[in-house]
Amino acid sequence: MKRLGILLSGRGSNFEAIARNVAAGNIEAEIAVVISNRPEARGLETARQLGLNAVCLPSRGLDREVYDRQVVAELKKHCVDLVCLAGFMRLLSAYFVREFPNRILNIHPALLPSFPGLDAQHQALEHGVKISGCTVHFVDEYLDAGPIVLQAAVPVLDDDTVESLSARILEQEHRIYSQAVQLILSGKYRIEGRRVIRTR
Ligand code: GRF
Repeated sequence: MKRLGILLSGRGSNFEAIARNVAAGNIEAEIAVVISNRPEARGLETARQLGLNAVCLPSRGLDREVYDRQVVAELKKHCVDLVCLAGFMRLLSAYFVREFPNRILNIHPALLPSFPGLDAQHQALEHGVKISGCTVHFVDEYLDAGPIVLQAAVPVLDDDTVESLSARILEQEHRIYSQAVQLILSGKYRIEGRRVIRTR
């Protein structure tokens, strides 16, 4: 059985969607550990309630690589095969990325390469795009930058607010993140340059 490590900083709804799909057998893996850099993260509490290993490693005041060494050690202790960033509000160091080559996924609430970084839904509204969505991608040491695994599009409506657009995108996040996790775990893909290509 493959082992997932989830990193989060807040609400944890993407983590919950993954946990539901693990329970339903749609993701053939178990959640080995959930790690938060923020003690108050709701997702950490959810993990505890689900009876999962829930670990808080506070990042405040720590140098990036010093912190990442702690996280990597915790992930390795739990023999994690695939790391899922689920609202983890930190850039990873080159060290972290090297320790899990092509083994780290992230979900971003925009159609990358549009609107990387914070407040992607606000950025999309401000720019006036008519379509936005979400992206699951491999993680490198740059911001929202690695090869794209899956994307889903949603319309941007004239009367949208950040809240209404975020909710529409979030529904798709919950769907495609689990699909992407299962695809990567299945090994039925190859990476050519920036392209993630499905194989049989
Ligand atoms: C999501 O919008 C995700 O795309 C972004 O951070 C948010 C996390 O939400 N990376 P949640 O903690 O999974 O509910």
